[in-house]
Formats: sequence, structure tokens, C-alpha cells
Amino acid sequence: MLDVSKKAKRFTESVIREMTRLCRRHDAVNLAQGFPDFPAPREIKDAACRAIADDVKQLRCYGMEVDPERDIAVTCGATEAMIASILAIVDPGDEVVVFEPFYENYGPDAILAGAVPRFVSLRPPDWTFDPDELAAAFSDKTRGIILNTPNNPTGKVFTRDELETIATLCRKWDVVAFSDEIYEHILYDGAVHVPIATLPGMADRTVTINALSKTYSVTGWRVGWTIASPSLTAGIRKVHDFLTVGAAAPLQEAGAVALAFPESYYRTLAADYVARRDLLLAGLRGVGFQCEAPRGAYYILADAEGLGCRDDVAFARRLIETAGVGAVPGSSFFSRPELGRTLLRFAFPKHTATLEDAVARLQRGLAH
Ligand SMILES: Cc1ncc(COP(=O)(O)O)c(C=O)c1O
Repeated sequence: MLDVSKKAKRFTESVIREMTRLCRRHDAVNLAQGFPDFPAPREIKDAACRAIADDVKQLRCYGMEVDPERDIAVTCGATEAMIASILAIVDPGDEVVVFEPFYENYGPDAILAGAVPRFVSLRPPDWTFDPDELAAAFSDKTRGIILNTPNNPTGKVFTRDELETIATLCRKWDVVAFSDEIYEHILYDGAVHVPIATLPGMADRTVTINALSKTYSVTGWRVGWTIASPSLTAGIRKVHDFLTVGAAAPLQEAGAVALAFPESYYRTLAADYVARRDLLLAGLRGVGFQCEAPRGAYYILADAEGLGCRDDVAFARRLIETAGVGAVPGSSFFSRPELGRTLLRFAFPKHTATLEDAVARLQRGLAH
């Protein structure tokens, strides 16, 4: 029988997909997958329809030139932006520093590029890192560091001081920062998003990764981008060209409309997310989960030890089957699964009614 590559064998299918299938089977509220279940803004959908009607062609990157053509590559979502950037910049055998818990794509991204991940812990309750542990992960083998702020799954928003510590190491070891800032507009309690590219000496050694997906509630549209120096962008564009050629042109056109939304759009987005966060946070705490309020993004990483959880995967399955609520087992966010054995991640980009339903189900399902 023909076999898949050694690379492909080194990672599994997304655990989130499995949880989603289980949710469907048990008719559970799916708080495992972080896609908004509410509609995208009408203006952006209208712009996409107009662009389709007008026969917008692939080669013209309408309006996406926030910067000159040389600094931007438009990709199929942040997912392709990250893998294209790593393939373009990291050589097989190079080391890449990854904070954990991590967004689950980063491990496979590193493996596909033949890179060696070096994991550095973010520790609760504020999910900060030990500067000495971070410094020890850097060496002359290090080519990149993957950063995600605001962070999935912890909700951490890296402070300027923390970013300065990271930037100092990047400058010292001549390392590229791959900075996934897809949740930049989803912030709570006065948290401020600082792009690492804005720190001294970092503009030329940062690939800033972003997408329409989260900010405009269009995760299925698959439009993202990188911002980097012209030389790094040239490499990313080459890889991107051979991976996917381009993101859907009419949706790029709609993206240009979205990027010009007024400040009020982003204020409303954040305010709506505070309400969703607070609803789910109170609900989870009320039934016995221990959780910190996230400062950004739209996930709550909840500790279920007090509810008797010793095996996150078994607990997540039971929660779907008996309470009818889906969450992601915490171990999928760690290189060492034991670090996530009592954790579950709940996503809250959902209608208020969906979240209320989920909380009511948890109350009933965990009562006995
Ligand atoms: C941190 C992070 N980066 C990237 C993505 C994927 O983004 P996209 O849908 O634009 O590929 C996600 C989606 O969950 C995410 O949480």
C-alpha cells in the first residue's frame, strides 16, 4: 500500500474537527470551533456581490495595497500566510521558537517546513513567560519565533515590555518574528495590542500575519495577508504563488471595503465580544470551571480539575455526550500533552442565545 510522507505522519488531523463531528452526532452546542455563528457585516457581503457581478479578475489586488505592492502578500487566510512565510524563510533543520500553549497549526507548519520547534511555556494565571527560559531557547540555529497576540487559546495580550524582551533576542540572534495578529481588534478591559513590527529594529525582521476572518466574521472567505520587508515579501509571494496562486479576487475586493470601515465598527465589535465573554465566563465559573478572563481573542481556557477532570480528551467527549456542549481538549495546545490534561478551550464567537443555551446545558449536564 502506498504510504504518506514521514512529515505527514508526524501530525494528526485537527482535534477540533473531531470534536465538531462529535458535536454533530450528539446535537451539541459547538463551542469547540472558533467560527462566528452570526452574519458578516452587510457592507462587505454587498461589496463581494458587486465584485462578482463586475467580473473582478485575479491578478488585480484591488485596494489591498495598504503599502506598496512590495510589502504585502495576499493569501488564503492567515493559515496560508503562516505556512507560506515559514516555507519561504525557514530552512530544513533551522529552529523555530514557539510559545505553548499554541494555536494548533504552528506545530504542523514547522514540521512541513522541516524546522525544529523549540517550545517555551506561557504560564497561568497571566500566561507570561520566563525571560531566562526564552533566552535559553535561542541560539545560532534559531531562524524564527512564532508569536500570537492576542493569543489563542489563552487570551493573553503580550505587553510592550514582553515584546521588547522578545525583540531584543530577535535582534541579538538575527531571528525573524512571525507575528500572528489575527485577533488584533478583539481586546477587553483596556488591553492594548502592540504589533512587534513597530518596535525598534523589528520592521525588517517581522512578518506580520493577519486576515479578514476574525475581525469581519468571515472565517470561510479565506482571505489573509502578510506584511514584511520587500525581500522577505518576495520570498513569501513566490511560495504563495505555487501553493495557491491567490485568494478569491471578489472577496479581496470586499476586504478592501472592510479595511476602510470606520472606528465605530471596531468599537462595536469589541463591545459585543465583551458581552459574550462575560456571559460564558460567568457560566463556566458557575458550574465549577476555574478560568481567568481572557484579555483578548475569543476563547476561554478553563481548568476542569475541580470537576474531576484528569483526562481532557475523555472529559471533552463526555461533555459532548452528556451535557451537549463541545469544547477542545487542552492537551492539543501543548507539545507535552500532560500540560493540558485538566484544560478545555471554549470558543465564544456565537449568538448570545447560543451561549445561553450552552450554559444551561452545562448547568444541567454537570449537576449530576
Ligand atoms: C491564532 C490564529 N491564527 C490563524 C487562524 C486561522 O485564520 P484563517 O481562518 O484566516 O486562516 C486562527 C483560527 O482559529 C487562529 O486562531
